[in-house]
Amino acid sequence: MGIFEKIQEAKNYIDGKTSVVPETGIVLGSGLGEFADFVENKTVISYGDIPNFKNVSVKGHAGNLVLGEVKGKKVVVLQGRYHFYEGHEIGDVVFPVRVIASLGIKNLILTNAAGGIKENFTPGDLMIITDHINLMATNPLTGKNDERLGPRFPDMSSIYSRRLSGIIEEKSKILDIDVRSGVYAGLKGPSYETPAEIRMLSTIGADAVGMSTVPESIAARHMGVEIAGISCITNMAAGISKKPLDHKEVTETADRVKNDFIALLNDVVPEI
Ligand code: HPA
Repeated sequence: MGIFEKIQEAKNYIDGKTSVVPETGIVLGSGLGEFADFVENKTVISYGDIPNFKNVSVKGHAGNLVLGEVKGKKVVVLQGRYHFYEGHEIGDVVFPVRVIASLGIKNLILTNAAGGIKENFTPGDLMIITDHINLMATNPLTGKNDERLGPRFPDMSSIYSRRLSGIIEEKSKILDIDVRSGVYAGLKGPSYETPAEIRMLSTIGADAVGMSTVPESIAARHMGVEIAGISCITNMAAGISKKPLDHKEVTETADRVKNDFIALLNDVVPEI
């Protein structure tokens, strides 16, 4: 079965479980999954039940596809994602995003936990992703292109939508939440970076670093979806902070800011 047919099979399964036709997709990163609890009139489908989805293995990632409404806006939420470092094929990493794109979403909010590189960032900051640098040494569009999904050589010059970023900025001001913006570098992981790698990333223009989002953005943009990205800066990157890096700090910081994050998404989603 080709990728297009696999996507259709998953889409048909989901369509059979709900009458919701979502307009907006949201991918929830490490420690940020609780937003899914705020979805109203929801249908929750476990990834394991959806044809062609893999099982999720990372702590803090639930593995549910949630369809419903946020203040009347029809949404689909991916609560948990597949990471390249888990050993999945890159096509499997982006498969859920391709499926929700096929459900008809017009826009997609990708969220993640990231290490802060820019000196004036502090753990707990939210950062609007203005652009990314793909350092995963792979691309989800590798291989034969299916024109039904998108073009062979998709433009990435405005992969993160100015329009959506503007709405996030506007809503964060109203809520009095300080939101930064910057460039996200996506690395494969799973080891955290060395201080020398972080100095390199800083030199090439990265403001934050993480192990997700980039493949999903590329695959969704390929399918014509308008994208916003929000990083939760959970820790300062290696060498910037004197402390050793620890996944516990990542989940603890995400937990600390999740109320702001949830409030922001609740206000942004109905407006996009
Ligand atoms: N590096 C890479 N990925 C991350 C980090 C980090 O410092 N923090 C959260 N995800």
